[in-house]
Amino acid sequence: MNRIRVRVDGTEYEDEVEPRLLLVSFLRDRLGRTGATIGCDTGDCGSCTVDLDGASVKSCSVLAVQADGCAVTTIHGLAQDGEWHPLQRAFHEQHALQCGFCTPGMIMSARDLLRRNPDPSPQEVREALKGNLCRCTGYQNIVRAVLSAASGREAGRA
Ligand code: FES
Ligand code: FES
Repeated sequence: MNRIRVRVDGTEYEDEVEPRLLLVSFLRDRLGRTGATIGCDTGDCGSCTVDLDGASVKSCSVLAVQADGCAVTTIHGLAQDGEWHPLQRAFHEQHALQCGFCTPGMIMSARDLLRRNPDPSPQEVREALKGNLCRCTGYQNIVRAVLSAASGREAGRA
């Protein structure tokens, strides 16, 4: 077992983990961050996307021990003072989800994009989200939601 210390959504956690434990399992099973969903477990669907020290990662492709000493932000950490993150609001307003399974990963990837590129084109949004699969929406409203959040110029928050 390895002792790790990780800051998740602003709170410090210390735990003993097996070296083979995936970050997504640590987040979900130990810390209750079930918004990081597991759609494939093979790095293909993007539903488990979280922010690891400022970089967007698929948490089923990262070991919990690799996050030792790092800061992780999940979808649970985006709302502040009871207010949705602009991307969460935009997804709601633009009807950018149906079952919602892919939504946390989509939003985390979109957040990563808007931090790097606050004014993306529709094509750039599609490029940035190509590692995130959605079986329901057909993507059109997801792209619209990201552009809408970007035009609000607030999405880089948090
Ligand atoms: S569960 Fe991680 S990419 Fe699909
Ligand atoms: S809303 Fe169902 S998978 Fe995207």
